[in-house]
Amino acid sequence: MHATISHPNDLDAHWMPFTANRLFKSAPRLFVGAEGNYYLSSDGRRILDGMAGLWCVNAGHGHPRIREAIKAQADGLDYVSCFQMGHPEAFTLANRMVGMLPDGLDHVLFSNSGSEAVDTALKVALAYHRRRGEGGRYRLIGRARGYHGMGFGGLSVAGISRHRRDFGPLLPGTAHLPHTLDLARNAFSRGEPEHGVELADDLERLVQIHDASTIAAVIVEPVAGSTGVLPPPKGYLKRLREICDKHGILLIFDEVISGFGRLGASCAAEAFGVTPDMITCAKGLTNGAVPMGATVVGKHIYDAFMTGPEAAIELFHGFTYSGHPLACAAGLATLQVYEEEGLFERTRKIADHWEQAAHALKGAPHVIDIRNIGLVAAIEFAPRPGGPGQRSAECAEACYQDGVLVRAGADLIVLSPPLTIEPDEIDRIFASIRKALDAIA
Ligand SMILES: Cc1ncc(COP(=O)(O)O)c(C=O)c1O
Repeated sequence: MHATISHPNDLDAHWMPFTANRLFKSAPRLFVGAEGNYYLSSDGRRILDGMAGLWCVNAGHGHPRIREAIKAQADGLDYVSCFQMGHPEAFTLANRMVGMLPDGLDHVLFSNSGSEAVDTALKVALAYHRRRGEGGRYRLIGRARGYHGMGFGGLSVAGISRHRRDFGPLLPGTAHLPHTLDLARNAFSRGEPEHGVELADDLERLVQIHDASTIAAVIVEPVAGSTGVLPPPKGYLKRLREICDKHGILLIFDEVISGFGRLGASCAAEAFGVTPDMITCAKGLTNGAVPMGATVVGKHIYDAFMTGPEAAIELFHGFTYSGHPLACAAGLATLQVYEEEGLFERTRKIADHWEQAAHALKGAPHVIDIRNIGLVAAIEFAPRPGGPGQRSAECAEACYQDGVLVRAGADLIVLSPPLTIEPDEIDRIFASIRKALDAIA
């Protein structure tokens, strides 16, 4: 297998996602195995995974319990639709999730990715208001620097301009809150920053402009991830909840990253003690082993649909692979692993070491901010004059050569290791970054 795929011509047909295709194909970086906190690269090196795959392999790669569960399911029922039929594992998984999540998150719609979970949540919000005779509530509010996947719905409420600009006008009727990054007041904060609760009040401004009767929902990542790890300012999420309640606006937390242990709790709603009307999740739900997304809604939302003739379909929405048996098997095994290995509690314990190790980089060349919460962190660099983004790209490459995989963004290194990471591995990640920074101009 290695001999054939290592030839550049063979790499041509795959149009790789979010990748500089020509650059990659001129010097491919291929992985051929993974176990625990490490990848095995095609050149035979063990690479410490500082990203948990892509914020998803929370229990570590190739967990035997999860692997066995998927195999066993494939040997039994490979596929059945969840339209007008079903299989036991979909119901069991939904029950397990609801049992694990905070009260008020009671019913689960399955999908296949974070993007689908988000678009599902946005559609449910619109349909919910319509069911209740408030169909005039069509407006969806996101936030600057938000990331909600690549569907047209998620992209419309997202706030990263480079992701949006090539794709036309997107959904009409959206608006955006300001982002919460404030380097002047909050640089080098540990956990939730002190300043910025008042940024939630911008929702009142949007209500004044658009009128609450046109607003269906607000969606935010409780901890913005892809844009470079922005923990919410103290009190911000609570304030957002209060303003939503005041105006009858649904609050959606996009927990695709923050769900399933990343913050040392089942989800950010639990970690911050603020319960939204819906959460979206994916990634850590199946430990990344089989694609799955889910939208978890409050009883009040579900009940609003459970009216009218019993024989009528209540929501015209779903996917061929909603509640796929392999994904459900992976999800059930994953949740069991989280519980039995106490990974959320372990995350809370080790987060202290993580924080100390991250903030020890304060004063390293080019570092202008370090942000962390749970087992996630970002290190922000001053851009190189005339070369924005170069320092982080060079830093990530140097770390990779050193055997550590970190993710580079625009002048950022973003980290979210498996929750099984050991203290010496944490030290290794930050030592590798320090070494790289010392060598970068
Ligand atoms: C907060 C958030 N929402 C949605 C998504 C989209 O998930 P997916 O790539 O599975 O569609 C992501 C992916 O990183 C995410 O971080």
